[in-house]
Amino acid sequence: MPAKASSKEKVHDTGSADLIERDRAAVAGTIYRYTDITFQRGEGVYLYDFGGRKYLDFVAGIATMNVGHCHPSVVEAISDQAGKLIHGASHVGYMKPYVDMLEALKATAPGDLKNGKGILMNSGSEAVETGIKLARYVTNRPMILAFTDSFHGRTMGALSLTASSPIYRHRLPSLLTGVYHVPYPYCYRCPLKHESPETCNLACLNLVEKALETVVPPQDLAGIIVEPIAGEGGYIVPPDGFLGGLREICDCHGALLIADEVQTGLGRTGKMFAVEHWDVVPDIICMAKALGGGLPLGAILAKKDLVDAWPPAAHGTTFGGNPVACRAGLTSLRIIQEENLMDHAIKVGDHIQDSFREAQGELPMIGDIRGKGLMVAVELINADGSPATEIIKAIIREIGAKGIVLTKCGASALRLAPPLIITQGQVDEGVDIILELLREHQW
Ligand SMILES: Cc1ncc(COP(=O)(O)O)c(C=O)c1O
Repeated sequence: MPAKASSKEKVHDTGSADLIERDRAAVAGTIYRYTDITFQRGEGVYLYDFGGRKYLDFVAGIATMNVGHCHPSVVEAISDQAGKLIHGASHVGYMKPYVDMLEALKATAPGDLKNGKGILMNSGSEAVETGIKLARYVTNRPMILAFTDSFHGRTMGALSLTASSPIYRHRLPSLLTGVYHVPYPYCYRCPLKHESPETCNLACLNLVEKALETVVPPQDLAGIIVEPIAGEGGYIVPPDGFLGGLREICDCHGALLIADEVQTGLGRTGKMFAVEHWDVVPDIICMAKALGGGLPLGAILAKKDLVDAWPPAAHGTTFGGNPVACRAGLTSLRIIQEENLMDHAIKVGDHIQDSFREAQGELPMIGDIRGKGLMVAVELINADGSPATEIIKAIIREIGAKGIVLTKCGASALRLAPPLIITQGQVDEGVDIILELLREHQW
């Protein structure tokens, strides 16, 4: 279990200290905390602790609060719906916000998914579980191909696909059978040691082909599940052509392409869905996080013939598509579209990347800068090029005292995923503080 820093190191006020003490007595230690900041309230891109201290939020509830904290329209939609119907259960009757949500998703979806159908549930893990259950059912095939460096959730089915850290799987050997992993195309640390994506000729796709020639009989392959940008694994952007190559491989073998857009979806990368950066249309998209506008909501949207082949009652959930969560999500989605937050995410995200690139000469600890839209990673390295795991821990620990909430992804990357409403000025303010701290830790 990761060690917790002492409250003395990280706590900034007594209200927070008391809460942390009570938390430690009542909450399972397995709920790991990157920081010891307590959240009393949030507004826009800022969080406030119990001492009234203000933090610029570069995490957004883990890529979730796309329109910022407590957006007045989201709050209003939640209160309005709470006064009408809080829960009805999708198995019992019909609910308008449920249908509105899926219609809105269809309208924004790429390609054939515009005519697709979906199911709503409560979380990303559940969305992934649903995606692979559907793929296995409709293909009547058992095997799923997934990638290392990928995170798909912690429930047993989703965990069988997750391969971003051994901690999640330790002492849990009885995961789903029929799952096979191949390396994610992490170009900065290419698993095949190629110099550059410009010259490798997408050799990473050969690893998928090789798996189908050696351990995964193609006629048994239900689907390939992939994060269009690996999230927890380090905001790793695959080379151009990779996702398109997976689409072709699936088509060639009658398998389904399942895009896990739980972290990348709903505008985070500057497109509604990250697959659109490469013009790829998956058979199934899994989503959650930003979908519920801050309330728990997950979904799959899939091609119509697939969903229609799943018989009534084969799948479902009590709370999935909860009307309050749907109203919050619909409002958040409308704001993302009406306020052009996707174009804004690209502009501000590119600006973040440029700022770190400018600093790279002065700070050789900055090994790689990557991402799309407001999903940006700055990978920190040691002098020998290895991941700077100790430095990143220190930075995440220390930056709270400087008024920033920040986490990491992968072994040693700063993870920058602020609300999409963040302004360039607010970004500059945050980046300056991060760079100041990097200077203190430069080897
Ligand atoms: C890509 C991806 N898939 C699935 C999940 C699991 O989502 P949840 O934590 O809502 O179960 C996550 C969570 O971080 C994720 O990033």
